[in-house]
This record gives sequence, C-alpha cells and structure tokens, in this order.
Amino acid sequence: MKLKYFGHSAFQLTTKNGIKILIDPFLDGNPVSPVKSKDVDAKYIIFTHGHGDHVGDGLKIGKRCNSLFICVNELAEWVKSKGLNAHNMHIGGSHNFEFGRVKFTIAHHGSLSPDNQYTGEASGVLITIEGKTIYHTGDTGLFYDMKLIGEMNPIDYMLLPIGDNYTMGITDAVKAVELANPKTAIPIHYNTFPVINTDPNEFKKRVEGIGKICKILSFGEEIEI
Ligand code: NI
Ligand code: MN
Repeated sequence: MKLKYFGHSAFQLTTKNGIKILIDPFLDGNPVSPVKSKDVDAKYIIFTHGHGDHVGDGLKIGKRCNSLFICVNELAEWVKSKGLNAHNMHIGGSHNFEFGRVKFTIAHHGSLSPDNQYTGEASGVLITIEGKTIYHTGDTGLFYDMKLIGEMNPIDYMLLPIGDNYTMGITDAVKAVELANPKTAIPIHYNTFPVINTDPNEFKKRVEGIGKICKILSFGEEIEI
C-alpha cells in the first residue's frame, strides 16, 4: 500500500486495490501542504479529534466524495449533524472495514469542533491493512500506556508529533518511540506554524541513538509501505 504525507498530521493511505483513506486532512489552510483539498478524494476519512487543524477540509472532501467518516462517537455525531455519513467508534474499540481494521486508542489532548461543539475525547488510531499496522497517535502528550499499545498491537509505522507546545516535543517523542517500539517512527505535527517549529533531523538522530529506525517524510512525499 501507499502512504502519502501532506505535512502536519494529514495522510492518505491507498490500498493495493485502490481504496483511499484520508487521516486528518488539513490541506487548504495548511501552509506546508503542496496538495489542496480539490485534488484529493477518499472513500474513508478518519479523524483523530475535532480541532480545525485535523478536521481540516474533511467535511468538504466527504461531501464531494460521499466518504464514510470513522471517528469517536461524539465527533461522528457532529459529522452526521452536517449531513454526512459516519461510523461511530470509541477508544479501545476496533472494527473491520473493507480495507482493514481500525482501533481507537487514548490520546492526552482536547477536542472541540471548529464551530465550538463538544466532540468527545481526542484519540489515536491503529490501522491494520495488508498485515501492516500504522499507529497515528493524533495530538497527544507522552503517556506510559504507549508501551501497552505497542505490546498488544505490534506497530510497523508510528506517526507521532514532535512539534511541542500542543503535543510532545522531541524528548518526549523519543521516549514514546522507546515505549511503543515501532519498526519505523515518522515525525509529524511540526514546522506547520512558527510555534511548532523544530528540527526533525534532531529527532531522527535521537531515535537512531536508541537503536530504532526513523523516516522523515517530506511534505507531499508518498512511500510504499
Ligand atoms: Ni489538536
Ligand atoms: Mn493539532
């Protein structure tokens, strides 16, 4: 399958048979994304939480593509209140979709929609497709249960924030990699705005220092995983 990074927390997965899944598609307002919302489509859209830099252009894309949204219950209800389709889930729960399995995890963060509606708990998400598990942590601080998440769901790719201020910074993110023990760590949620500017090469160096693999994706880069 293919994994494409748009910068910030936004990704697109494309399965072998061409099913497209967007995660936190913040594109038009995202100063580092080389791709805009009109240029992407998705059968499924996953939100980690309701903040504007994660919900992004999801509703617009979902309307155009008749996408199914996958997120925690309160956020799914907000999506449905906009006339769109959602599959309600919650933290700890998993479900098999046609493309693979989705499981929500805790994340230590807030959640509020761009129009100031309560959208439940912030989450992380484990996505298992074609035998590979991707852990998108969402926005979060460091928490020790990342160790349990990694033990119970062996992780191939961990997508985790390093930008500090709203989420983990580099030091905490390196500890998160140590706890969750993924095969490969990919830094996210940095250099979008000045307040979250940081050096991903410093993160990579320190991840390699604990004997782990780190891959920095450039904004707009797509890799085969
Ligand atoms: Ni957030
Ligand atoms: Mn964020």
